[in-house]
Amino acid sequence: RYDATPYLPARGGLPAHRRAAAGCRGCPLHREATQTVFGAGTSSARTVFVGEQPGDQEDRRGEPFVGPAGRLLRKAMAEAGLAEDQAYFTNAVKHFKFTVAAGGRRRIHKAPNLREMTACRPWLYAELRLVAPEVIVVLGATAAKALLGPSFRVTKERGAPVGSEHGTAVATVHPSAILRSDDRAAAYAGLVTDLRTVAGLLA
Ligand code: URA
Repeated sequence: RYDATPYLPARGGLPAHRRAAAGCRGCPLHREATQTVFGAGTSSARTVFVGEQPGDQEDRRGEPFVGPAGRLLRKAMAEAGLAEDQAYFTNAVKHFKFTVAAGGRRRIHKAPNLREMTACRPWLYAELRLVAPEVIVVLGATAAKALLGPSFRVTKERGAPVGSEHGTAVATVHPSAILRSDDRAAAYAGLVTDLRTVAGLLA
């Protein structure tokens, strides 16, 4: 069974967890990825943003949300009045999963499966416990599965506060899905609307 639990430190804060996660071998994704991409931000953050997994640029740089999806998210946060320095950014899965097209060099993102997500979840739970945010912002279906259960539907239940084991959560679309959307402007506007709801909960 895949499981990160044996790699978690028995005590310590975010820095101790980040150091330990760098050596995680709880599932096979560490083999192909460049490095673990742990969450980033302050432990006193009022919001925790949970994505799916690091992308190509995040994998190379070792930081979450530093690529195109991250730029879009930060822009939407600014529009909604959410301060970046009061946010903590992380992912449901901490290693980049990808395939390389035959003869190509480009690394193409692959969605993590349930086993990988379940294996990695102890890291996410530890982050949520240590940061204890006022609102968890759940970005897309993978994060929703990890935090809100398999029957949660982002399309139906997005944008409204829901109770979770780890505190109040608001689910919304993943910024990567907006970048792939046929109607990018409308999808982006929807993200900003949901983030305004989050800002309202903090006020
Ligand atoms: N997409 C994610 O889900 N997370 C990142 O860190 C970057 C892109």
